[in-house]
Amino acid sequence: MNTVYLGGRFMPKSEAVVSVEDRGFLLADGVYEVVPFYEGVPFYLDRHLARLRYSLDAVRIDFDTSDVGDVVRRLIVENGLEREDRSLVYLQVTRGAAPRTHWFPNPPVEPTVYGLAKAWKRPADDVWSRGFTAITVPDRRWTRVDIKTTNLLPNVLAFQEALDAGVDDAILVRDGVAIEGAHQNFWAVIDGTVVTHPATNLILAGITRGVVLELARGTGLRVEERPIQLEEIGAAEELFFTGATGEVRPCVRVDGKAIGTGGVGPITQELSKAFLALVDRTKQGAEQGTRQKPKEKAAAIAR
Ligand code: PDD
Repeated sequence: MNTVYLGGRFMPKSEAVVSVEDRGFLLADGVYEVVPFYEGVPFYLDRHLARLRYSLDAVRIDFDTSDVGDVVRRLIVENGLEREDRSLVYLQVTRGAAPRTHWFPNPPVEPTVYGLAKAWKRPADDVWSRGFTAITVPDRRWTRVDIKTTNLLPNVLAFQEALDAGVDDAILVRDGVAIEGAHQNFWAVIDGTVVTHPATNLILAGITRGVVLELARGTGLRVEERPIQLEEIGAAEELFFTGATGEVRPCVRVDGKAIGTGGVGPITQELSKAFLALVDRTKQGAEQGTRQKPKEKAAAIAR
């Protein structure tokens, strides 16, 4: 479980070394993706690749992503994760290694590309059914969080504040609006309508968020993409988060106050069920992005 990808090669993690001049290390000058896999099948890989392209273009890192899909798949194979219930690939691209400047290296240098694969676990059913808790924390991030950059210090501080407070996550609040979690998108059910922040520069447009929006609309639920005011949270019937490794994750308590009945609400349960059913269909190769038999393709690349 220790093969990583660095600088165009697959190698044991113990041999992977990055320059101290890497701009990811010195300046957080890089972007990343987290691609979930279910039994070795990628979940909406095409959307993750499109978001990586968007992030790279937004920060003007010149990098050809045409091989990234193959690299990501091969990482799963190399690490023997094809049969693993849930695994993921973390892939990061930085502007490369060069003497530290506040401007781009001139002449440009090769971007540093690093990838790793690992297994992850969904919380046990009884933990999930109890629900998760959160506190509200000021959103201290910059105003381009639609770009998935490695600059996550505000997220780390917010998440740690949540852990120190004995809860599971932080809801980031900007100008009275509950924007998103420290590493997940945030949703509320208000008067029977499923609400989440619109995909602006103030949130990361989660791939899971997009999928759950489609599922919610497909189920016939009323859906609105609009800011959720902080004062609406207390009166919401249900709250939940979505993210690659969170899937659909109920939030039953915020700042010590129970939400709705204090248990996991019916709409959260319905959306979670629909999400897991989509995962099952993806595993069976019935969903987009999986028709080209990724396991066979990945095995061929590995040979
Ligand atoms: N986090 N919002 C933020 C701030 C995130 O960091 C993430 C993902 C999401 C959900 O996006 P997606 O559905 O595409 O996973 C929303 C990843 C998993 C991470 O940083 O590890």
